[in-house]
Amino acid sequence: MRLDKYLAECGIGTRTEVKKIIAGGRIGVNGTPVKDAGLRIDEKNDIITLDSRPLNYSEFEYWMLNKPAGIVSASRKYSLKRGETIPDGEEIFAVDLIKESAHTDLFPAGRLDKDTEGFLLITNDGDLSHRLLSPKKHVPKTYYTELDGELSDEDIKKIEQGIDIGDEKPTLPCKIESLTPTSCTITITEGRYHQVKRMFEAVGLTVTYLKRISFGPIALDETLMPGEYRSLTKEELEKLL
Ligand code: URA
Repeated sequence: MRLDKYLAECGIGTRTEVKKIIAGGRIGVNGTPVKDAGLRIDEKNDIITLDSRPLNYSEFEYWMLNKPAGIVSASRKYSLKRGETIPDGEEIFAVDLIKESAHTDLFPAGRLDKDTEGFLLITNDGDLSHRLLSPKKHVPKTYYTELDGELSDEDIKKIEQGIDIGDEKPTLPCKIESLTPTSCTITITEGRYHQVKRMFEAVGLTVTYLKRISFGPIALDETLMPGEYRSLTKEELEKLL
């Protein structure tokens, strides 16, 4: 395959942008800088680098991000190109934290509130995201939750059986595991706006800390500090797909 085509397919930029990057001497093939956009490369065996960092040629990327509080998880209006920095005064989006991506079309599969931490899947696989987020699929999501007061057995029962949070329909049944009088995990199978906060509000409690600790069949890697991320492993991806 031609080098410029390969780079464009890695999501580095358009063919024109890629040609400029090559001309700028930023691309290496097996350790040698190259400036020939038409160079034929072996995409399976050659090691191609951009600014000395190896590129991975894969159509889709799947990242497990431990989203920190203070970061917006909505999609960007536009994607930053690799190496591009966030313009002054602009909000940081969760996708901006993924520095190793070869693609500029990443988006978060689902949303977490700005003050919520935890597992956010960042991908460019629209089909998978669609399946995971489809209301019909009831994909379970578990949150570690801290509250401003004590959660009674009666509250747990009310929330677990489905509770009115002011929407057209009450929430679907869910599972709560009490950890301390003021903390628990809650597993829900829907994704309504501020859902967990509103479920506890419905019994008079305020969520003071919220962290998603699992998404579908995958648990958040607890070695990831807030703001850190890694690719999903092959096994995790298989479970998810
Ligand atoms: N429920 C909430 O209230 N907030 C989140 O970020 C996720 C679930």
